[in-house]
Amino acid sequence: MARHSVLVIGCGSIGERHLRCFQKTGRADVTACDANPALLQKMKDTYQVPVITDWQTALAGKFDAVVICTPAPLHIPMATQALDAGRHVLVEKPLSQSLEGLDGLFKARDRSGRQLAVAYVLHIYAILAEAREFIRRGDFGPVRQATVITGQSFPFFRPAYAQTYYRDHRTGGGAIQDALTHSVNWVESILGPSESVLCDCDHLELPGVEVEDTAHVSTRHANAMATFAINQFQAPNETTYQFNTALGSVKIEMHQARWGTYAKDSGAWTWHDMPPVERDTPFVNQANAFLDQLEGQPSRLCSLEAAAHTLRFNLAALASAKSGARVVCASLHA
Ligand SMILES: NC(=O)c1ccc[n+]([C@@H]2O[C@H](COP(=O)([O-])OP(=O)(O)OC[C@H]3O[C@@H](n4cnc5c(N)ncnc54)[C@H](O)[C@@H]3O)[C@@H](O)[C@H]2O)c1
Repeated sequence: MARHSVLVIGCGSIGERHLRCFQKTGRADVTACDANPALLQKMKDTYQVPVITDWQTALAGKFDAVVICTPAPLHIPMATQALDAGRHVLVEKPLSQSLEGLDGLFKARDRSGRQLAVAYVLHIYAILAEAREFIRRGDFGPVRQATVITGQSFPFFRPAYAQTYYRDHRTGGGAIQDALTHSVNWVESILGPSESVLCDCDHLELPGVEVEDTAHVSTRHANAMATFAINQFQAPNETTYQFNTALGSVKIEMHQARWGTYAKDSGAWTWHDMPPVERDTPFVNQANAFLDQLEGQPSRLCSLEAAAHTLRFNLAALASAKSGARVVCASLHA
């Protein structure tokens, strides 16, 4: 089996996980890049990887692929340069916190002939893939309405959140750009892009930051409506998705590791239980899916097109929260 040479740029919280999970595939030789020398030393000691501090110098190296794990304002410039240098790219979500450079990124991808995927990791969760496959098969007809209710204690999972990019919208922070974007991107893979959004949000609880930690969002898609409720302070780490048609409903309970169907007139849910998932597992699966894509297999990850739609949603949701009015996502096209 061919081995891949992978450069991870940004070895903070998610970058370290990508580094470890690409190693765990057994298919990649990984090099770590970060502007912080102390962090790089930790990567070298922990994972026995070569390290480099300057990402632009690193891009001149012999790498097949680059995994971009820096904060959002660096995603588009780094991805564009990496494609121009002939590297395949896996870039973290959100694609950006503005539309600046987006057209250039599409052009760089198209002229390079390289692969670009966006690490909206929900695309690779087995439980979600199974439920989505059922919905796409169409037994219940097209989804007309969906609800997403999600919450967790962000300080429990990310104790240092107030010292990271999360503290500021301009660096990709806040519940909408950082957390809700995952659910919206995944729901868009079923309902199609959000066409407009009405958003109410606020900072209600999280100490040390002023960005919103709570959001209530209503979206319109071509043939469906959806509603999302998120907070980042509740104790239980729970997410429930439900997709409804007149013929039946599909529910996914992430925290119960089960998804179910309720056919009209059946009178009860039929549940499918899934095995428990370790935190690294989806990231190892995502790394394998990306490497499969480089080897010519069809993509199982989020495309640039889909991530650009979700970026338009993120920006429209923030604009709606500011104005109090519904905002058309398409009107944000550059
Ligand atoms: N998919 C997920 O589940 C998930 C989880 C966490 C974060 N993320 C996303 O990943 C991105 C990074 O998040 P994080 O939590 O790892 O942030 P972080 O702050 O922990 O890490 C970012 C790293 O980038 C490095 N960096 C910044 N500028 C650099 C430069 N010019 N050259 C090289 N290195 C540079 C920093 O030194 C830091 O180590 C964000 O966009 C975030 O939304 C995704």
